[in-house]
Amino acid sequence: MRAVLIANPKGGAGKTTLATNLTGHFANAGKAVTLCDLDRQQSSLRWMAFRDPAMPPVTGYFAGNQMLINLPKEPDWVVMDAPAGLQGYKLSDYLRLVDKVVIPVVPSVFDMAATEDFLAAIRQEMRGRRHAIGIVAMRVDPRTRAASMLEEFLKHFDIPILSYIRNTQNYVNVAASGLTVFDPPRAKFRRDVEQWQPLLQWLEE
Ligand SMILES: Nc1ncnc2c1ncn2[C@@H]1O[C@H](COP(=O)(O)OP(=O)(O)O)[C@@H](O)[C@H]1O
Ligand SMILES: [Mg+2]
Repeated sequence: MRAVLIANPKGGAGKTTLATNLTGHFANAGKAVTLCDLDRQQSSLRWMAFRDPAMPPVTGYFAGNQMLINLPKEPDWVVMDAPAGLQGYKLSDYLRLVDKVVIPVVPSVFDMAATEDFLAAIRQEMRGRRHAIGIVAMRVDPRTRAASMLEEFLKHFDIPILSYIRNTQNYVNVAASGLTVFDPPRAKFRRDVEQWQPLLQWLEE
């Protein structure tokens, strides 16, 4: 079993979107995958409840109320969807459990400012495991000024941007029916799936 934590202290950064779509990727790749929803709002589990039983299956559970988390050993992958405002001992606990941490960041001045302390804390906690932290630039076109602002901001932290995920209603639409851009009909989401490739490769390293 390998585990990945999707975290960012800001609500709306794209954690649940990344967590559910990543889960969809693993399921479509024939892997056994479990979503561990750490957020009281349980958006990931709601997404799972909508999922068409004809689609590659995913399992999941709520763990936001547990003091000590034990991840299941059976699945190939556990994807952990963190709540907004995650910090302190809970953050440290989760970081100890996982192989990788993925941080979605929307390149707005507000989101970057809200993420600064978090990035510093994670870097400190993950000393010696630096290569296990990666950023996903969320809702951004890599050729824009917003993207270069984000790159400039992240230079301080020396954490790589793994993928750029464009702003598209595809993510909104699939979420509403328990689907992901990795589920059929695949032709419709080809551009989106392409954008995920560097992130997916990094996860497998
Ligand atoms: N790349 C994207 N393009 C368009 N909408 C997006 C994208 N990523 C996220 N969203 C939308 O933004 C909102 C917040 O995303 P969500 O994943 O719920 O964030 P978080 O879990 O960090 O609070 C959701 O309505 C989601 O559908
Ligand atoms: Mg969420």
